Amino acid sequence: MSFLKPKTHIEQGDVVILYLSVNSMHAIEAVPTIVNKKGETIVNIFQTPYGSLKVQNIIGVEYGSRVELSKGYAHVLQPNPELWTQTLPHRTQIIYTPDISMILHQLEVRPGAVVVESGTGSGSLSHYFLRALKPTGRLHTFDFHEARAEQAREEFQRHGLGDFVTVYHRDVCNLGFTSELDGVADAVFLDLPAPDLAVPHAFKALKLSGGRFCSFSPCIEQSQRCINVLTQLGFNEICSMEVLQQESIIKTRTMPVIDLEFLKAPKDAAAEPNSNEDTKTKEPKEIKKYLTSSHPQLLPGHTGFLTFATLPPNIPKA
Ligand SMILES: C[S@@+](CC[C@H](N)C(=O)[O-])C[C@H]1O[C@@H](n2cnc3c(N)ncnc32)[C@H](O)[C@@H]1O
Repeated sequence: MSFLKPKTHIEQGDVVILYLSVNSMHAIEAVPTIVNKKGETIVNIFQTPYGSLKVQNIIGVEYGSRVELSKGYAHVLQPNPELWTQTLPHRTQIIYTPDISMILHQLEVRPGAVVVESGTGSGSLSHYFLRALKPTGRLHTFDFHEARAEQAREEFQRHGLGDFVTVYHRDVCNLGFTSELDGVADAVFLDLPAPDLAVPHAFKALKLSGGRFCSFSPCIEQSQRCINVLTQLGFNEICSMEVLQQESIIKTRTMPVIDLEFLKAPKDAAAEPNSNEDTKTKEPKEIKKYLTSSHPQLLPGHTGFLTFATLPPNIPKA
């Protein structure tokens, strides 16, 4: 139940983030025993590069505390969607926090919102939707992979989020979202290989008073096909974007102090052919150190194109 609301102490069954460093975190379940591959019940010992943790020892411990490992220490943190995205078991490719922050902002997900999502995948994005729309909203999430849908359903339940989500096992490109969802959604989100096939179903699911749409696609051709269908159906404010993180390089650089007289000199040089020589010899006199900021020339990190659109109110849905 550790995703539902802030807690002070770890209870048995909680998902806990074992934080070793910013690049090394693990999601563990606070249970004293586990069943091994041979079907035997054994003491739950979690191994890390800094030694082992007897998981029973963290039950009752305050969240945020430092806990001893056999060869070092770690901190035990209450999970949130950001930490979960970094530690969750990958069943599929997932969407990460920078793209998700833009998705939540552009879809205006807020308490009370009804969001329709497909595919559920590993549930990375779903956890953010749930945090933003609870306690009065609802997430309807669809995946055509039965095991993934079942695992996600069980995971939301275990995380204490089961009351705010319905997980469907369904092919949304061929069958659409269920008819009970016609006209109920404030926002529809697609992370599918062929989003264009699901856009007409998203159109149906959005409220008659209008709503927001987003599709995440790694390739621009997928976005282009999606945009064609959005345009045909009367969506507006269509916009595709990429969320790229740009690093700032902070460096002390040595630079000459600009001498305005020196800068003027080359102009005069055109009139006097021999004066070129003279200007070359005029070196700037003063050199100073400056703290500078610049950006790398390459921007790595393409994840996908986010295509957003608005369904305006009262578009007839014949
Ligand atoms: C990339 S994953 C989604 C990851 C998810 N956004 C996350 O952040 O964890 C795409 C999912 O879409 C599902 N999918 C693909 N085509 C589908 C369809 N036609 N109907 C429903 N689900 C579909 C796949 O089974 C897969 O689980």
